[in-house]
Amino acid sequence: MSQAPSPLGTPVVRREGRDKVTGTARYAAEHTPPGCLYGRPVPATIARGRVDAVHADEVLALPGVHAVLTHHNAPRLKEPDDPILAVLQNGRVPHRGWPVALVVADTPEGARAGAEALRITYETDGHDVLLTEDHPGLYTPEIVNGGYPAVRERGDTDRAFVTAPVQVDATYSVGALHNHPMEPHATTARWDDDGHLTVHDSSQGSTTVRDSLATAFGLRPQQITAVSEHVGGGFGSKGTPRPQTVLAAMAARHTGRPVKIALPRRQLAAVVGHRAPTIQHIRLGAELDGTLTAIDHEIITHTSTIKEFVEQAAVPTRIMYGSTTSRTAHQVVALDVPSPSWMRAPGEAPGMYALESAMDELASALGMDPVELRIRNDPGIEPDSGRAFSSRGLAACLEKGAARFGWYDRDPRPASREEGPLLLGTGVAAATYPVYIAASSASAHAAADGSYRIRVNATDIGTGARTVLAQIAADVLATPVDNVRIDIGSSELPDAPLAGGSSGTASWGWSVHKACTLLLRQLRERTGPVPADGLTVTADTQQETAGQSPYARHAFGAHFAEVAVHSRTGEVRLRRMLGVFAAGRILNSRTARSQFIGGMTMGIGMALTESSTMDPVFGDYTENDLASYHVPACADVQEIEAHWIDEEDPHLNPMGSKGIGEIGIVGAAAAVGNAVRHATGIRLRSLPLTPDTLLPYLL
Ligand code: MOS
Repeated sequence: MSQAPSPLGTPVVRREGRDKVTGTARYAAEHTPPGCLYGRPVPATIARGRVDAVHADEVLALPGVHAVLTHHNAPRLKEPDDPILAVLQNGRVPHRGWPVALVVADTPEGARAGAEALRITYETDGHDVLLTEDHPGLYTPEIVNGGYPAVRERGDTDRAFVTAPVQVDATYSVGALHNHPMEPHATTARWDDDGHLTVHDSSQGSTTVRDSLATAFGLRPQQITAVSEHVGGGFGSKGTPRPQTVLAAMAARHTGRPVKIALPRRQLAAVVGHRAPTIQHIRLGAELDGTLTAIDHEIITHTSTIKEFVEQAAVPTRIMYGSTTSRTAHQVVALDVPSPSWMRAPGEAPGMYALESAMDELASALGMDPVELRIRNDPGIEPDSGRAFSSRGLAACLEKGAARFGWYDRDPRPASREEGPLLLGTGVAAATYPVYIAASSASAHAAADGSYRIRVNATDIGTGARTVLAQIAADVLATPVDNVRIDIGSSELPDAPLAGGSSGTASWGWSVHKACTLLLRQLRERTGPVPADGLTVTADTQQETAGQSPYARHAFGAHFAEVAVHSRTGEVRLRRMLGVFAAGRILNSRTARSQFIGGMTMGIGMALTESSTMDPVFGDYTENDLASYHVPACADVQEIEAHWIDEEDPHLNPMGSKGIGEIGIVGAAAAVGNAVRHATGIRLRSLPLTPDTLLPYLL
């Protein structure tokens, strides 16, 4: 039997590409069951207090309005697994934008008109929404996002710092950021007569949605079907269900009709999570040859009053560079703000902005090349845990990137390159992201006609999940990729974890790999043809993924950026950007490149254009549409390249892959900021680097 060449690593085209560009791929809001009504949430207009009265009668009198749900008449929930889902259960307003009512009508327009007409009076308490370095409410939590300890200390960092011959002591800040996927959060819910609930939900994982709804509504998971067939991005904001999922199910139960809720863009900022702002104090101490002796990274951040979410921004510092002493700590304060949550590389994205900016400052202080400084401090073992790395490609990424980018052509002196009114400069920064994996199950079916069918409740949030899973199956089964059908995106399929933590392909893929391996064994052991109804094998990876690896497992990368800063306007234009990543085996070169470039592009936004400003009077973020929250457009991203090094790592999963969805954003903003510093000599320590922040130093 001739073996087909492995499809792993090849640029297989996205399976749903045609469906998407022709409009036949249907998203959560494009499912309209017969008799469907439309819901429109009513956001609280105060930042803290209680609902006093809701004048629902006036709105119920409007044509086409079917119901006004409030905390007086909405279905009672059991305690949800996430407090942000406990909507319309009491009159408390924990932050501005919290849903205090839902208007349900025949049409989206009717629901909107009703929501806008609804008069609500409140009892208002004073609110506190501003994060400050010396806020009296700051405390040290036990753990931070990801389950990491809030504080780690090794050696006497203070002493090592004060005695170090070269020191950097600087405070960086990253304001709040919002995910803003192209597809706003949406849910269509319906209850069948037998009490079965079906939701089409815009989600990163419908097994999670099903289980979360089961808890909230006191149902068995088998009484719920959650479908997330096509999802227009999430970046963490759809990692778990958001309030519209519960509101749609409540409204459908209340009215006895299917109900659809598509959140308007302007409501997203308050209810789907955000990257919490961080104030980061870093102290680095080094010997004259660049060897680090002290690393101190302290985070101050906020959470809401209903949920403790602590952006783990100091955690990457525990693994990046060797140092005889190290201290990493987080403090948080609960404010009257929307609940922060996951946003692409939570922790690593803001934390590595600060650390990699500080490393650039240290290189300047030492008079040393910043690539060389990083390589000099590349540790042999994970500094914090003492564990061996399963693989660590940082130095290789820096070297390959420097060569491809032409890094060493630069004159290291700041403000040394001009082109008319433009100041030109280059910058470098490192990237890292941990390897996460979760248990998954999948089934593999061999049909009598020789084709295969894989079933697994994976989610494609725009990444190419279907395609890469087909490649993994085809590789094991030694069959063409087109001979494998992939069913994903429904909780009726074998349970699988969400598309989050850059763990999807590894987690789902391992169960697909296992099911296909077992199926192949059965096929080989059989004598005679496959029976008419085929053969099916189901497998899960509970055992394989239980426990902790003895290895420290992380992906690494390096970013190189070239900027032109206009000396009269302060405008920063990114001329080119190049990233090199070490992420195990790359399973699909086309979709991987897209993910790396997508992450880098989000990092460009973080560096130059994206920010959310807290209005202390209203207690809310002012940028709540894409006209004011500036994500990079094509013109902002001129020349961008992603490359990788081939990394063979036997300690990951049968495919040998690390996650790639998040690492692209990590360090990208620091590379741009370091390039701006090189171009101008100006070191700004907060993002984004908008013209108004640079101009005072240029004039
Ligand atoms: Mo990602 S922020 O883990 O969805």
